Amino acid sequence: MFTLLFLPLAKVTTWDDEAWYARFVVSALATTAWVGLLVFVPGAIIACAVVWVVLLLCSLHVPSLRNLLPFWRWLLALRHRIKGDSPEFIVERVLGLRPIEDATTDFKGVRDYVAAYSGYDETGEAQLEFACGLSGVTDEFVEKKAKDGLGAMGAEVFKVDHLGPGHWLLHFWKEEPKNPLDDAIEITASDLDDWDGKTVTYGLTEAGEPARLSYAQTSGIVVGGVPGAGKSAGAMLLTLPLLASPKASVAIFDGKGGMDWSWAERSASLFNNDCDLDLPAATDQLETLAQRCVDDLKSHPWSDSDPDFWHAGASALHPFHLVVIDECQTLFDITGRSKEEKALVERCKRAVATIVRKGRSAGWCVMLLTQKPTADSIPTNIRDNCVVRFALRVTTREAAEAVLGSIPDGDPRPTEIPAPRRGGAVVQGEDGHTQSVRFAYLPVTEAAKALESSTLDTVVAGLEA
Ligand SMILES: Nc1ncnc2c1ncn2[C@@H]1O[C@H](COP(=O)(O)OP(=O)(O)OP(=O)(O)O)[C@@H](O)[C@H]1O
Ligand SMILES: [Mg+2]
Repeated sequence: MFTLLFLPLAKVTTWDDEAWYARFVVSALATTAWVGLLVFVPGAIIACAVVWVVLLLCSLHVPSLRNLLPFWRWLLALRHRIKGDSPEFIVERVLGLRPIEDATTDFKGVRDYVAAYSGYDETGEAQLEFACGLSGVTDEFVEKKAKDGLGAMGAEVFKVDHLGPGHWLLHFWKEEPKNPLDDAIEITASDLDDWDGKTVTYGLTEAGEPARLSYAQTSGIVVGGVPGAGKSAGAMLLTLPLLASPKASVAIFDGKGGMDWSWAERSASLFNNDCDLDLPAATDQLETLAQRCVDDLKSHPWSDSDPDFWHAGASALHPFHLVVIDECQTLFDITGRSKEEKALVERCKRAVATIVRKGRSAGWCVMLLTQKPTADSIPTNIRDNCVVRFALRVTTREAAEAVLGSIPDGDPRPTEIPAPRRGGAVVQGEDGHTQSVRFAYLPVTEAAKALESSTLDTVVAGLEA
């Protein structure tokens, strides 16, 4: 009977070794023999009991001997199987990952897997760590079992982390876990710190840590995303501390030509929100900036001997230069342009490419924002030299790749950012590592307030000095 109980499990042996059949046959024969002895040989029960005890004791050292005692084996395993939250119960009964014990084992026990289970905690998450060396237990198999086990686990969502060869961590959640980035992060002017000359804190990462951008050794930043994704609002947090600081000089080109950047007009060293109407002027301005960058590179005014701006760092005397170009497609896209305009666009591209290529050690950086992330809006040679890239929500893979380049499997994708999560982004840093973040949100009025008080501070400091 107990051997027959194992029979349906033959179906899952695709992932098991061939020895399963051998064990099954041995168990069947042993059962038949024991029953035969007990029924047909009077008084055999005592002899049988003695042999069972001896076999049981021996099986402590040689687990495969348990195959001769299917009933005892079943009984020994019972304690695991009726204890609802033991790892064995979850693995074997709930998920069916390893439905019967194995005779020979790599894990010095009676099972050829090891597992640790922690039941649902207050966040509604249960975890099962599972390691198994059987060749048939593949990623797909574990994934499928976890999926099939959702109902039995009383869970709505699962996730399988691959920790190494034959080693997995299965997460089960009773309900779809809430993403910490789905809540807007509202801040006010008083939450802003003074710029330290290098980094700005602009929001939160998925792990709940502060998200930071370092301008040191960075000469190009690309920000792309659909209209309304939160690019300009995000760029405000990246630039406001610099605009408020004497250690940076910020030039702003707003291709949209609206009021998006009017809060910064008075603090910027150069402010142009007419680039769409007056391309020649914007071209001249960009070329002048590029020339100043090249001059800085040649004469490195911050030090006689050290050619790297960042070794001494930004100071009021030698500020860091940031050039922001919002809706940069208005300067770079040649669609529908006349021949003369195309020549101007070429010059703009060359000026920007110069700063991006040469600016790093001279303390210059360009930030390009666009709602149309294609090679037409951000020339790939410029994008490839921009090591920091922010992809806010986009709708196509092409757009995502125009910002980030090809995205490795398993990395967060900007196409998966939900529309209501404004300011949500996938950021790729200098090391090529990507992570999900969300920009904090500072209303424009607050930004203007922060700049006013910083101007006041500067004036007061000037008077006191
Ligand atoms: N981090 C954020 N958190 C919450 N809301 C935000 C955030 N960023 C932006 N928003 C909201 O989204 C609106 C649009 O943002 P923003 O103007 O920055 O978009 P955009 O990507 O620059 O769009 P466009 O391409 O049209 O210029 C803002 O007015 C604001 O209400
Ligand atoms: Mg904008």
